[in-house]
Amino acid sequence: MARTALQKLSALVLLASFTAAVDVAIPLNPARDAPVISPSHISLSIEADRWTSWSGTTSRNEFFYNTLDNLKQITGAPPNIRIGADSEDHTFFRSDVDFQEAVFPDPTANTPYPEAASLVVGDSYYATTRFLPPGTHVTWGVNFGAQNLTSAYLSTRSIVKTFNSAEVKKAGIVLDYLEIGNEPDHLVKDGLRPPTYSSADWVQEWTSFANNISLAAGITEKSYTKFITSSLAGLKWGMSPSKAFDAGLTNSKVGKLISTISQHQYSGNFCSGGDFLLQALMDKYTIRSNLTILVPEIRKTQAHGLKFILGETNSYACHGAPGVSNTAGAALWQIDYSLYASQLGIENLFFHNGVGYKYNMIQPVALDRSSLTGESLATPEPAHVQPTYYAAVVVAEAIDKSTNTRVAEINVDHPWISGYAFYQGSQLQRAVFVNLKGHFASTTTERESVHIDLGFAGNARGGRGPSEMTVKRLAIKTANDVAGLTWGGVSYDTKDGRPTGRVTVEKGKVSEGVDIHATEAILVQFL
Ligand SMILES: *[C@@H]1O[C@H](CO)[C@@H](O)[C@H](O)[C@H]1NC(C)=O
Ligand SMILES: *[C@@H]1O[C@H](CO)[C@@H](O)[C@H](O)[C@H]1NC(C)=O
Ligand SMILES: *[C@@H]1O[C@H](CO)[C@@H](O)[C@H](O)[C@H]1NC(C)=O
Repeated sequence: MARTALQKLSALVLLASFTAAVDVAIPLNPARDAPVISPSHISLSIEADRWTSWSGTTSRNEFFYNTLDNLKQITGAPPNIRIGADSEDHTFFRSDVDFQEAVFPDPTANTPYPEAASLVVGDSYYATTRFLPPGTHVTWGVNFGAQNLTSAYLSTRSIVKTFNSAEVKKAGIVLDYLEIGNEPDHLVKDGLRPPTYSSADWVQEWTSFANNISLAAGITEKSYTKFITSSLAGLKWGMSPSKAFDAGLTNSKVGKLISTISQHQYSGNFCSGGDFLLQALMDKYTIRSNLTILVPEIRKTQAHGLKFILGETNSYACHGAPGVSNTAGAALWQIDYSLYASQLGIENLFFHNGVGYKYNMIQPVALDRSSLTGESLATPEPAHVQPTYYAAVVVAEAIDKSTNTRVAEINVDHPWISGYAFYQGSQLQRAVFVNLKGHFASTTTERESVHIDLGFAGNARGGRGPSEMTVKRLAIKTANDVAGLTWGGVSYDTKDGRPTGRVTVEKGKVSEGVDIHATEAILVQFL
């Protein structure tokens, strides 16, 4: 699926002979295979080692709560929350620990907020799950890396105690999944397993852990709390869902309690630093090829009757690339990436966040050192949302308050512009367009703009289609911006994370089409 040099060349030629207008025909009815999109399509994965900074300890973290509740007010459901990742495999349970005791390595310029080397937690740590918005669906990871069943067992008992508490039950906060281990395909690299460790070894070990944990958690059928397997790091690491299926993952009694396969995916990594280009992330073809490589695994997973999710994902692994992952351009990447993923059968994307990570949607607490350089800050930077938070808002509004919204990619014959149509039942409601062409702080030429001529295909409404629309814009000054975005005039760059500003939309006739600027996303609401 990689583009050949010739294709790249022709894309460049196309750029040179810049097309200022493009015709699109939006199907009035969804194709039969257009997937239903979950109201929590964009969800959050949170690094376990600073979990209580997100949740709060003795009272909830109002800022974090508000940012989740904003999204719930748009779709009716808060984002799903997975707590785990690298520190999941360094977590031990000790009943006499208040909340958590973490030991962190020294910060470096590349990794200003490293993952804990060790994390010891008690009941009160898991119990802060109660501070999430009512109705939140949660995944908790337990330690598999340390080969310490006692610790995984004790954590599981504590997690179950939390979800059985009256307060959590009353709030409708539910445990969707227990995840046994993070990225078993990285255990060899991390020195936690011998170099000969294979998919078969992993399946055997996972099964014996899951036997115990299923009993500890009372998981007896898929319909109750379900298992996610350990979540796999990436196809290049030698393990894959298909290799795990081949090794008999779902053959055992407990293997049959797996309902979801979690794959992790990043477009690249910043683990050893390096210079990354924002336009390379904001690339329509890279976004597609980075996801289509997963298609064989998605189909295998579906053939086993299981759900496929990206249980951990983001732009560049190892917390993101500075000046790229933390920018407005990354917000446009996230919109296109998550909506394109829906077209391939990826049912949820958990964007990974940790305190002080560069690619976060949300910085839930004040930071006393720079997330970009690790330098200490004279005045701490207060809790705030980052540009990719706006991606979650835009996608939420496109889905709207419905558990039955269907989404279909619109064929846009343009190298920078992608589009998606949203349907309720069989009726076209909205469309999102993204213009990934970078307008940078360093761009000296006038901002580019493309006119989209809107038309319809298909037979609904007698083939005519709606004639009126409103257009809402994600206004971005430059792709490099790290703040100051507005969505239909509304800003989330506030002290409490709540939106401020009056909603503004443009009214127009569908027949007149719409302009989209370089580095912009728009939501078209058909009336
Ligand atoms: C699960 O493991 C724990 C810790 O090793 C042990 O105490 C418990 O008896 C085990 N339960 C079962 C059913 O094997
Ligand atoms: C295993 O975990 C338990 C509970 O956290 C802890 O008490 C014990 O020391 C651990 N065992 C090893 C060998 O680390
Ligand atoms: C994503 O695409 C880029 C550009 O082709 C490539 O360099 C990178 O390796 C891809 N990442 C993955 C995970 O496929």
